[in-house]
Amino acid sequence: MGFEEMWAALLPVGRDDATGGYHRFAWTAPELECRAWFLDEARRRDLAVEHDANGNMFAWWFPEDGTRDGAVLTGSHLDSVPGGGAYDGPLGIVSAFAAIDGLRERGLRPARPIGIGAFAEEEGARFGVACLGSRLLCGAIDPARARALTDGGGRTFAEVMHNAGLDPEAIGPDDDLLGRIGCYIELHVEQGRALEQPVGIAGSIVPHGRWRFGFTGEGNHAGTTALADRRDPMLPFARMVIAAREAAERNGTVATVGKVDVVPGGVNAIASSVTAWLDARGPAGDAVRRTVREIDEAARVAARPHRVGVDLAEESYTESVGFDRALRDRVGATLGGPPVLPTGAGHDAGVLSARVPAAMLFVRNPTGVSHAPAEFAEPADCLAGVEALTAVLDDLARG
Ligand code: GLV
Ligand code: MN
Ligand code: MN
Repeated sequence: MGFEEMWAALLPVGRDDATGGYHRFAWTAPELECRAWFLDEARRRDLAVEHDANGNMFAWWFPEDGTRDGAVLTGSHLDSVPGGGAYDGPLGIVSAFAAIDGLRERGLRPARPIGIGAFAEEEGARFGVACLGSRLLCGAIDPARARALTDGGGRTFAEVMHNAGLDPEAIGPDDDLLGRIGCYIELHVEQGRALEQPVGIAGSIVPHGRWRFGFTGEGNHAGTTALADRRDPMLPFARMVIAAREAAERNGTVATVGKVDVVPGGVNAIASSVTAWLDARGPAGDAVRRTVREIDEAARVAARPHRVGVDLAEESYTESVGFDRALRDRVGATLGGPPVLPTGAGHDAGVLSARVPAAMLFVRNPTGVSHAPAEFAEPADCLAGVEALTAVLDDLARG
């Protein structure tokens, strides 16, 4: 199966036909279908499948001499944000299978294993922490904390893993697996308008994180409760949303409130509590931290006159990632010096870069839209991405 056929096979999975958006949350039916597709593609190519303890999957092409070390790993993720685009994640995995086909057509006999990784819960759309599979693998999150994370329906990560046939007590860093990986190359759709050529490479990932605000007031009747008697959490929440925009403008960062949970959510009831999630990113970690502090302060000031309680919890934070310079230069030389771009998006490659040399290839996105149905890459650019990935894997797996 070539790139186009693989792409077409995956395209309907988890798509909402009314909006065109994808809903592929970790270990839900559409994501399990994507996982089954991955395993089929691996078997079709006689790749050895490995499931780690953290829900990540790997498909390996081992050298004939039995070498298991110094692997060149590529891949990405199969899960999506709510209503996401088709490309974020799957493009890297479909391109990886197509690149392996290309290498075999070239007659490559790899000196090192070539692997395709499908990392679990990259978007954190189900359990809140982005790159959960790669964080666990790399020891970047406490396994006990991961086990206790809950999804929107109140199910714990431990429970969901158990139902998926995994042992939640076994999760955590895997030094044996990491020790076998020589480098990681993730191909990904570009998520802004920064790339004008078909293929570019990542220079860095900006500091980014997620915070959860809880506003606690008092539920009451919308018609019979005098304004003076209300403890309405929606009021400081509304102020917090505006404060996020203002603090981002002051600090040269970006801040977004894209998810909110209002309890109980009745038209004719004052809410008893509001939970709101803040995503903040920026070129410098201290500016991101200051942004969050200023938003928190504005929320507390707004909450006081309404006798609403405010609490703030950090769900995840990733400092600036500068990808391995030698690997990036080597990839750049193989590809004839494509543009090098920073990105405001998080990736498993950023998490893995703390433990193994990592690099990323970006494929042009003419809409500049991502995490939404308009996310796009031209078929010709996708094929240019496959060709670039093939060349990079060829170079790295020979030497
Ligand atoms: C993942 O794509 C993120 O940047 O949130
Ligand atoms: Mn994403
Ligand atoms: Mn992604």
